[in-house]
Amino acid sequence: MDILKAIMTRRSIRRFTGEVITDEQLDTLLRAGFQAPSAHNFQPWNFVVLRDKDLLQKISQFHKYAKMLPNAGCAIVVCGDEEKQPAKGFLVEDCSAAIQNILLASHGMGLGAVWCGLYDSSDLVNSMSEVLELPDNIIPIGMVVVGNKDEEKEPSNNYDSNKIHYDKW
Ligand SMILES: Cc1cc2nc3c(=O)[nH]c(=O)nc-3n(C[C@H](O)[C@H](O)[C@H](O)COP(=O)(O)O)c2cc1C
Repeated sequence: MDILKAIMTRRSIRRFTGEVITDEQLDTLLRAGFQAPSAHNFQPWNFVVLRDKDLLQKISQFHKYAKMLPNAGCAIVVCGDEEKQPAKGFLVEDCSAAIQNILLASHGMGLGAVWCGLYDSSDLVNSMSEVLELPDNIIPIGMVVVGNKDEEKEPSNNYDSNKIHYDKW
């Protein structure tokens, strides 16, 4: 899919067929994540791939906005390494760029995906850190739930000329 078409037509998909994505598709999504820009090119991200059914179920029980997780069958938790990037703002921005790359790649490949927020909900960050046994320097920033979609959504048009300012406010 053309990059502009992917950007303009991507939507959050929360209904999945239950058929899990292939290893090859997963590999492509991870590679897309690694290609994101990052401050100082520190590339502070790590990716935790979730496919264990019991684990997906467990996470959907404490993340009330990720109830679709077990049916998607796969998620990628994008984590930031504070030892690689101590500036928290940059860490979050870098990981967010990786998340958006994965979302767009999913859409371009015909898969459905949704960004489920983790940071900076201390409850979600703590629960996810515990269940994934993350080291102290690794902060879970966001989770991409991805799978074969069971819904189609029309593109949204979010354009708002009132929010565009030229040369001054
Ligand atoms: C930081 C962030 C956190 C989000 N968290 C969730 C979430 O926990 N669960 C969910 O279903 N969608 C979540 N979303 C998706 C938004 O609800 C969605 O992007 C928004 O409603 C716009 O819809 P669209 O993605 O289809 O354009 C999140 C999006 C962002 C950027």
